Amino acid sequence: MDHSTSIRLIEPTDAAPIAAHRARDVEAFRPWEPAQPADFFTPRGQEKRIDRLLAGYRAGTVWPGVVLADDQVIGQVTIGGILPQPHLRRGSLGYWIARTAQNQGHAGRAVGLALRVMREELRLHRAEASTQLENLPSQRVLRRNGFSPYGVAHSSIFLDGNWRDGLLWELILGD
Ligand SMILES: CC(C)(COP(=O)(O)OP(=O)(O)OC[C@H]1O[C@@H](n2cnc3c(N)ncnc32)[C@H](O)[C@@H]1OP(=O)(O)O)[C@@H](O)C(=O)NCCC(=O)NCCS
Repeated sequence: MDHSTSIRLIEPTDAAPIAAHRARDVEAFRPWEPAQPADFFTPRGQEKRIDRLLAGYRAGTVWPGVVLADDQVIGQVTIGGILPQPHLRRGSLGYWIARTAQNQGHAGRAVGLALRVMREELRLHRAEASTQLENLPSQRVLRRNGFSPYGVAHSSIFLDGNWRDGLLWELILGD
């Protein structure tokens, strides 16, 4: 089994594999990821989305990454909500891994690599994340990377037909 994992900035050519993964996994992801319009599951729709993510990257509000196993795109890791002001310096992590590549440690390693970007490239002080209370695999990924849970945001995200609570996670990155 291959355990190599890397991350890099997303590119327009990632649209096709991302659309294919998300179309294949739509049922499995329904409890965990927000509902999306039909064009989210097409390469053309993903290209438009990637354009928006890269515009956010140029504006400094998001670092949109893909997760690779060897040279294959198997998921995304996104540092969003970046607040670079000297008194805040924080960002929030989100991620998904295609079902075919899950439970091989890829998300755990991808989050570790994204934390390195947050520290060394973005010079952030604080990392945040939010999981559902039931999303034990995602919680394992965060714990393994040193995150601690610090609270519950009630009725904070609309998923699979209901407003759900979010378990809030934090990690202090450095000075
Ligand atoms: C959450 C997700 C990113 C994890 O990706 P992954 O590459 O499989 O993660 P890893 O292999 O690095 O780690 C998974 C961990 O969950 C554990 N796990 C798997 N299934 C589990 C279950 N049913 N109950 C408890 N733990 C479970 C694994 O043992 C592993 O923990 P360990 O390393 O301590 O043994 C992936 O499942 C996913 O994309 N899910 C759908 C979208 C999603 O939930 N995104 C995150 C929203 S916050």
